Amino acid sequence: MTSTSRAQFSSKFGFIMAAAGSAVGLGNIWGFPTQAASNGGAVFLFVYIAMVCLLAFPMLVAELTIGRYGQSDPIGSIKAIWPKGKKGAVLLGLAAMLTASFILSFYAIVAGWLVGAFAGSAFEIVGLQKTAEWVNSFGLTRNLLLMVIFMLTTMHVVKNGVHDGIERWSTRLMPVLFLLFFVLIIYIFTQNGAMQGLEMYLVPNFAHFSPELFVSAMGQAFFSLSLGCGTIMVYGSYLSKDINIPKTAAQVAAIDTVVAIGAGLLILPAMFVAKEHGVQIFSEAGELLSSDTLVFTVLPAMFDTMGETGLVVSLIFFLLMVIAALTSSISMLEVPVASAIEAFKCKRTTAVLSIGGLITLIAAIIVFNFGALFGLVIKVTTVYGQPILGLFLALLVGWVWNRNKLLEEIKQGYPELETSLFWKIWPVYVRVVCPIFMLLVFFA
Ligand code: PHE
Repeated sequence: MTSTSRAQFSSKFGFIMAAAGSAVGLGNIWGFPTQAASNGGAVFLFVYIAMVCLLAFPMLVAELTIGRYGQSDPIGSIKAIWPKGKKGAVLLGLAAMLTASFILSFYAIVAGWLVGAFAGSAFEIVGLQKTAEWVNSFGLTRNLLLMVIFMLTTMHVVKNGVHDGIERWSTRLMPVLFLLFFVLIIYIFTQNGAMQGLEMYLVPNFAHFSPELFVSAMGQAFFSLSLGCGTIMVYGSYLSKDINIPKTAAQVAAIDTVVAIGAGLLILPAMFVAKEHGVQIFSEAGELLSSDTLVFTVLPAMFDTMGETGLVVSLIFFLLMVIAALTSSISMLEVPVASAIEAFKCKRTTAVLSIGGLITLIAAIIVFNFGALFGLVIKVTTVYGQPILGLFLALLVGWVWNRNKLLEEIKQGYPELETSLFWKIWPVYVRVVCPIFMLLVFFA
């Protein structure tokens, strides 16, 4: 495709909503609060914020810039800045594509649980108690069915393309999500027990300070900002040239971080509110029980405190959660789909059906071998895959890419770049500090 016929986000707002839509998802609402709750609350929060500012934001700028410069899928975009012998570029692009696909395969399972929680509230409202219980209880058929529903929805949106699919959904739905979130946080603070959760979240417990904490926080930051798997590069390739990349990236990172912090403000207090209501959250030894499903026990318990209204609020809340997950999952699927369209010159629909089908199959395999595969796939893709790919991309931008071309690319939307503080720091930072940082965290 030439750059003129390549799809584009139609406005800056549309792009920010789509990129924030990709960033804001289960990572913020499920991953972050769970990690914070099991890693000493405030200690995790502070390390996480440091990781976002010091590592994830500079990498967000780097990945957006590669994508916008390359005007292609991740393989093509990496090729565009690769010096000679493009095999390495293809390998790196493929690795990103695989990472995105495997992330989607576990993501769809968790998102399916959200679909279940949503459907559960709906069934309860119409009096189908038994069915409601079924969609809410962990089980093979239920996990499989819900995952497939979620995957089909994701495929449907991606099939409609960048503008009519991704951008349209993101701009409509993200603002509603933010609003409801805000209202729920206010509500939870009116409940007994909430302050205990707040204390755990905001008063640091340094006993949890450890090298692993840094690795987890780095993985979480990469995951939450959708880095190291091609997503941001693909979205960057749909970004118009007059947009100021550093500024836009800062806005996206800020939105994502605020939502994660907000989710912590909701979920940690809600844990203790649930505890007040007799839900067991911690084991005798004080360990968090079933961290994977934490939000799925804690949130319904919170809604129960609201009586009849709780059902409706729960319905709306889980619908929005599904949407948050959807605006992320579409960005993951877009990575292999864009590559297939570019490589095989096939139709979007064909690419979506075949690749989406394949990922659904992989997700089904995980569902059937849940105990063995679920945690493993999460760990391999998010704790190792994304940061390692991030490391390679930092090296590529810092050491390989011609500095003038890099400057020209960012300058198009940021004319005063050369004299800015950003340009004094960022290139050296991505070249030296980011790689060293990532290596240190890994080998700590
Ligand atoms: N950032 C998304 C979230 O927080 C997850 C994601 C990871 C999306 C990788 C795209 C790519 O839920």
